[in-house]
Amino acid sequence: MAFGWIDEQAELRRRAGLVRTLRPRPADSPLLDLASNDYLGLARHPETVAGAAAAARAWGGGATGSRLVTGSTELHAELERELAEHCGFESALAFSSGYAANLAAVTALAPHGSLIVSDAGNHASLIDGCRLARGTTQVVAHADPDAVRKALGTHAGPAVAVSDTVFSVDGDAAPLAALAAACRAYGAGLVVDDAHGLGVLGEGGQGAAHAAGLAGADDVVVTVTLSKSLGSQGGAVLGPARVVEHLVNAARTFIFDTGLAPAAAGAALAALRLLRREPQRAARARAVAGELHARLTAAGLEAVRPDAAVVSVRAPSPEAAVRWAADCRSAGLAVGCFRPPSVPDGISRLRLTARADLSGAELERAVRVIGETRP
Ligand SMILES: Cc1ncc(COP(=O)(O)O)c(C=O)c1O
Repeated sequence: MAFGWIDEQAELRRRAGLVRTLRPRPADSPLLDLASNDYLGLARHPETVAGAAAAARAWGGGATGSRLVTGSTELHAELERELAEHCGFESALAFSSGYAANLAAVTALAPHGSLIVSDAGNHASLIDGCRLARGTTQVVAHADPDAVRKALGTHAGPAVAVSDTVFSVDGDAAPLAALAAACRAYGAGLVVDDAHGLGVLGEGGQGAAHAAGLAGADDVVVTVTLSKSLGSQGGAVLGPARVVEHLVNAARTFIFDTGLAPAAAGAALAALRLLRREPQRAARARAVAGELHARLTAAGLEAVRPDAAVVSVRAPSPEAAVRWAADCRSAGLAVGCFRPPSVPDGISRLRLTARADLSGAELERAVRVIGETRP
């Protein structure tokens, strides 16, 4: 029977406690939200929403085609200009998602005959970029610049190392300066995914590369998503102008994908302007994460010290993690639940996100609920 194998896979998933289901999300959810990636609390900010609405009114509901076919709007150009300026890079190119931006950066910068050195903890979109690229991928130990050096030393042609800046599962940061030094020793490029660093790390949320002194370097390329700190949707690649020009010509997720929706571009631009006006939001998100970690640890929970705004709490099993997250929800708290295959080491976790707009009382309530529902 066609697709008969799906039932076998579903049964295996059920037995392993790994079934995923979609839950409805009401517009006015009463839950305290520690699950979303809205780190700066900007997704529903009136200026972000107004930015989306104004852009949709001016440009319509969609981008109407690939920007190479139907043209590139001044709105996209403004977003790219201001994003590049904020993060300290020469140039930027917007994509319809962070996922598409990562596919673009890795595939376009790793041609046939090249080596890609990829951290074992990288996000699925970087992994998929490696799978689609013409170059050969070598996966190396997590956050290990010496392993990157060793891998680069085995190859004679063009090479890139790819890494998340902040790993989405445990919220730990990559050793960016050491990675860049390893790449420079071998004339390799460095591509880093700053999905969880933009808006949180660096002064005023200028991102992890800026914080590591790598902004504007001609051998560093940064990818970002507009869907986390900027409360919108979409992604971008930032780097030297010649890299961006190359992507316009070579990145299939730019060439063959409809441009970023105007409403998403307008929302991201409004959120970015707000962040630049109120740079203290970034430090506040980091402070909230630190406070959340301290409270969890004081309550006897096994939480990983956050380097940005993601705080991860270990659970004994996938089933326990799912039950724990459901019990939190019943008690009025939304938390993320990460299980295989979304975790590189097979350990299931509650994934909490610190938002700049969470109050001390809300943190206290969140930690009380997590403690009371622990398996
Ligand atoms: C590290 C990382 N990179 C890339 C992405 C993909 O970004 P987007 O949701 O904009 O496609 C995500 C999650 O969404 C992420 O956590």
